[in-house]
Amino acid sequence: MRLLFFAGSAREGSFNRKLASLARHIAEANGIEAVLAELKDYPMPIYNGDLEAKEGPPERARAFKALLGEYDGVFIASPEYNSSVTPLLKNTLDWVTRVKEKGETGLEVFRSRVFAISGASPGSYGAMRSLLHLRQILELGMGATVIPQQIALPRAMDAFEADGSLKDKAQQTLCKSVVEALAVAARKFVSG
Ligand SMILES: Cc1cc2nc3c(=O)[nH]c(=O)nc-3n(C[C@H](O)[C@H](O)[C@H](O)COP(=O)(O)O)c2cc1C
Repeated sequence: MRLLFFAGSAREGSFNRKLASLARHIAEANGIEAVLAELKDYPMPIYNGDLEAKEGPPERARAFKALLGEYDGVFIASPEYNSSVTPLLKNTLDWVTRVKEKGETGLEVFRSRVFAISGASPGSYGAMRSLLHLRQILELGMGATVIPQQIALPRAMDAFEADGSLKDKAQQTLCKSVVEALAVAARKFVSG
């Protein structure tokens, strides 16, 4: 069983990458094969139907979809921009849904694995509103299974210790329980 972790931010000092990285470390410490991916390694133009008609989905969308397909569970750390997800995250997901072989809907990769979502922000809501939208995008838009456990981390600039763990022990425990719930759900999903 393998888990993939990534953040919806390409920013160097991203709090959400820190959260994704912490979650990955927790998984690894539990003996789970876990990889942290970077959306900035998969740059894509903003979706445009004319571009798609002319050239098809970008190679990077195919590559990112193939990456998703290698893992049984996916953890997304989502920043909050104006009460929603980042354009980077939405654009990446949108393009991935447009990669399809003959007879496919493009959603197969979302329907055949389990997702966990969490988010961090400097504000007091801790990206909670972006998580509401991301849950809708994944569940209603793409038919994905998203586990109910999530962490919305407020005041992210003060939340992390130098070693990447969370200062607030209750938040650290919550993060651990989200990763464990994802692992349990992914294992169940894989074994059918
Ligand atoms: C366009 C824009 C809109 C934002 N809107 C919100 C918001 O609605 N709620 C919030 O908590 N933070 C908001 N922020 C602040 C982000 O949460 C903050 O930049 C955060 O560090 C981004 O995540 P990252 O650290 O993973 O890059 C906004 C930032 C930008 C650039």
